[in-house]
Amino acid sequence: MSQVSSYEVKIMGVSGSPQKGATQFSVREALEAAAEIPGVSVDFIDLKGKKINFCIHCNRCVKNGLLYCPTHKDDLTEEIYQRYLQADGFIIGSPVYQMTLTGQLQTFFNRLRPIAALFSKGHWATKVGGAIAVGGTRHGGQETTLAAINNYFLCTGMVNVSGGIFAYNGGAVWSQNRKEEGANDDAVGMGTVRVLGRRVAYVAKLLKAGAECFGQSIDPSLLTGVLPEEDTEERKEKFLGK
Ligand SMILES: Cc1cc2nc3c(=O)[nH]c(=O)nc-3n(C[C@H](O)[C@H](O)[C@H](O)COP(=O)(O)O)c2cc1C
Repeated sequence: MSQVSSYEVKIMGVSGSPQKGATQFSVREALEAAAEIPGVSVDFIDLKGKKINFCIHCNRCVKNGLLYCPTHKDDLTEEIYQRYLQADGFIIGSPVYQMTLTGQLQTFFNRLRPIAALFSKGHWATKVGGAIAVGGTRHGGQETTLAAINNYFLCTGMVNVSGGIFAYNGGAVWSQNRKEEGANDDAVGMGTVRVLGRRVAYVAKLLKAGAECFGQSIDPSLLTGVLPEEDTEERKEKFLGK
């Protein structure tokens, strides 16, 4: 088996802010810290300026086994879904809006339904996610925002990491409503962001090496709770409706 250090991983950053501000800066800083670990490359999806349609629960993606949304093809293209699928780790950041994540990021999460369905195939069990929240006030809801993003990771069955010993549920930044400059002034917050970036990259490498070590010896159904093949049609019907 190869050394863990020789494994290459890709870390995807997502900024859920509608502007070029403190969140985009924080996510990029976390990606930079991640990329300092050998064998780590990064990608970035910025929701700024994107008009993303709501998921309308038509289930055309899930019913037809599509890895993209056939209803709204032009906002989140198949290429974006593919890039997302190729990542081994995720650093997802949001500004705090009313003590939770932005509507843009929530809509993005909902629209990941086509590929979230790969939970049942065990795809996400070897992926890792870390959250970043950026508030205008010091205690403005960073923790509740982090919980909302972490819940997305849990919904997919990913492994969830913290922002280190001083930030148990992710990177938390106080921007003082001064975009990049304000975030940069928060030395403690930016420290948690960088630790988060390193942890996502490090755990992604461990998971990749570990998955290769296990090979086919673990059936994904044991990790996902999906019933044996003969039961899946009935389960699918119950899950999706007729
Ligand atoms: C609609 C709206 C709601 C907000 N709600 C909160 C909040 O609940 N708590 C907080 O600390 N800051 C709140 N803010 C301030 C932003 O979280 C803060 O300015 C953040 O740094 C913006 O990130 P950005 O620069 O990446 O866009 C709110 C801002 C807007 C526009």
